[in-house]
Amino acid sequence: MEILILGGTALLGRAIAHAALDRGHAVTCVARGSLSAPNGATFISADRDDDNALALVASRSWAAVIDVSRQPGQVRRAVSDLSTRHWVFISSSNVYADFSTIEQDENAQLRPPFQGEVMEDMSTYGEAKVACENAIRASDSSATIVRSGLIGGPGDWSGRTGYWPWRFANPSGEDVIVPDDPDFPCALIDVRDLASWVITAAEQHLDATVNATGPTVPFHEVIATAARVTNSAAQPRAVPAAKLAELEIGSWMGPASLPLWIDDPAWRGFATLNTDRARVAGLVTRPLEDTLRDALAYENQRTEPRQAGLSDEQEQRVRAALDQASA
Ligand SMILES: NC(=O)c1ccc[n+]([C@@H]2O[C@H](COP(=O)([O-])OP(=O)(O)OC[C@H]3O[C@@H](n4cnc5c(N)ncnc54)[C@H](OP(=O)(O)O)[C@@H]3O)[C@@H](O)[C@H]2O)c1
Repeated sequence: MEILILGGTALLGRAIAHAALDRGHAVTCVARGSLSAPNGATFISADRDDDNALALVASRSWAAVIDVSRQPGQVRRAVSDLSTRHWVFISSSNVYADFSTIEQDENAQLRPPFQGEVMEDMSTYGEAKVACENAIRASDSSATIVRSGLIGGPGDWSGRTGYWPWRFANPSGEDVIVPDDPDFPCALIDVRDLASWVITAAEQHLDATVNATGPTVPFHEVIATAARVTNSAAQPRAVPAAKLAELEIGSWMGPASLPLWIDDPAWRGFATLNTDRARVAGLVTRPLEDTLRDALAYENQRTEPRQAGLSDEQEQRVRAALDQASA
């Protein structure tokens, strides 16, 4: 198949390009070029914010076009400019209106669609993805809308999946600071599993909207798995959420954070989406252990700073505050 990837150079798009090439498809990637496309793919440099950005790929008909954008204007332009038998749009579980209920399926209530062409900041990310989904559905072709949960594994530049195995492999003291929320539901989909299934969906012209996440596991299992894959002797030291907040330690992502955990009751069901439809449609996910092991290998060779977790100094500061309080 001749597959066009709008993107194809960052974490997921690049893995999708690899998966397509591995299955013998011809792949063309369109991006501005801050990162390279995989060897074997044709790369076309274009800025999708320009009106005629897709001119070079608009003169032919594609077997499938895969779009990773979060900008409604870019997606609308792609739908109007390109000819394809099938669309795959990479959406997000952030399209859902709330996460106070667990195990929501694809019929759960959505956020209102973003009004406008350009999402200026991530506060309207979910709304923008809803508008992008609607633009794809307005095309005459079949479409797979992939509502992805947290994507991890090798290449996860955010450091959310790599932090925990890296931290157990590199303790800053006798223990590893973790949030005291062992049952917090986590779900992580390995980028390679998601990419492979995206190509399956394209090959099958799967005409559906589909939640795609890894299995939901309690936070303590993520921590135990991270310790196990690193053979670490360090023990987790559980710290109550209120104490972490007092010490200005955040959750989920970003600097001075404890990743994968969310300190907000409204988001507690975020990683519990029902994925029956994806499983029936062929999604297969590898064991968490394999994802964390390979995320650690990536952490060990990355050259840019990790963007999530605690630095040694931050973790030592938390430990010192706990020791002082219990002295
Ligand atoms: N990471 C997660 O945990 C997670 C979870 C759920 C859903 N998602 C969704 O999954 C997708 C992730 O895809 P990804 O990792 O491949 O991509 P990404 O990190 O969102 O990067 C965007 C891709 O599009 C290109 N691009 C960005 N702006 C462009 C422009 N103006 N013109 C042309 N190309 C442009 C980028 O290359 P250049 O910068 O070189 O142009 C890059 O290839 C996103 O849609 C994200 O919303 C992610």
